Amino acid sequence: MYAEINKMWPDEATVRSIDAILKDDWLLDLQPDVRLIGERYPGMDDAVRRYDEIHERAKEKAGPNGKVDEREMFRMLAHPGLFALAAAARRHFILDGVALAVGVLRHFALSGPVLDVGCHIGVSTNILGRLAPNRIVGLDPVGVAIDSARKLSADLPNVEFVRAMLPWKSSTQFDLVLCQDVLHHVERSSHPNLVTSLGDLVCEGGLLILSADDVIDRSWLRQVGPVLQKVRLGYVGSDVLGGFGGNPPQFRASTAVLLKKGEATTIPMDLASISAREWDAHFKNFANEPTRSAREKTQAFERSTRLDGRSL
Ligand SMILES: C[S@@+](CC[C@H](N)C(=O)[O-])C[C@H]1O[C@@H](n2cnc3c(N)ncnc32)[C@H](O)[C@@H]1O
Repeated sequence: MYAEINKMWPDEATVRSIDAILKDDWLLDLQPDVRLIGERYPGMDDAVRRYDEIHERAKEKAGPNGKVDEREMFRMLAHPGLFALAAAARRHFILDGVALAVGVLRHFALSGPVLDVGCHIGVSTNILGRLAPNRIVGLDPVGVAIDSARKLSADLPNVEFVRAMLPWKSSTQFDLVLCQDVLHHVERSSHPNLVTSLGDLVCEGGLLILSADDVIDRSWLRQVGPVLQKVRLGYVGSDVLGGFGGNPPQFRASTAVLLKKGEATTIPMDLASISAREWDAHFKNFANEPTRSAREKTQAFERSTRLDGRSL
């Protein structure tokens, strides 16, 4: 019988170290520190102007109800200063996703390779490479993002990056695959192929952390459930990522499922209510404590504090 996923989170010191790396090295804070970003990356005004122009053009091209082509945005955000400005809005999700991945690596004592799918400029890949001795591979189709990722993690001998996209064939199978906030950027019709590929990339007994808006959607579960069964990815548990953040800051959550290769259990259809129960039973009280600092209002901080036995 597997331990519940919310016991797999790392200790509070680890969560604090992830937060510090995000803030100090990646300049990813609750709100972007524009002065600091400008000092580290001169020429930000021009970069922001170009980004805004390209964003406007992409929106115009898409039309009022069309889908904006995000590829150009992802290319622009390969600039680490622009990335710090824009991705601060996702700081709580990134922090929680990395923390859960570190916790799962430690909980199952996984020593084999780890794949970070849709790594962009490699924030999560980098932090995993610092906190775990495993070989960590980041994968992303955006060439300039991979170029940035390689530069920004050049000091980490256990970290490497590949420019490619799912579905991806590799001679390596991974002990852990992290796939966070990628699927909902890809057309749903291709999800079965992407999920099949994820299944091929996980080694026997290995794990997949999958977080995307789609996973709590019953119609997605009906579409992708049979594919998961075919590639023998079964449900171990689910938990929540996110908390307080964004611009303007608000409470937002997403669901992550932990799947294991060789496990037969299917993902439950009531994932959304499982996530809501977790939030209501624990996180709400934690976040509402008057002394709780805004930066700590994320699932990773709450779980680690609860697990360390220091509150609740
Ligand atoms: C919102 S970012 C998420 C980055 C990172 N996983 C995180 O959570 O911070 C989505 C990334 O997925 C990448 N992506 C899109 N389609 C992909 C595919 N088929 N295979 C791998 N990555 C893909 C994009 O290039 C982009 O860098």
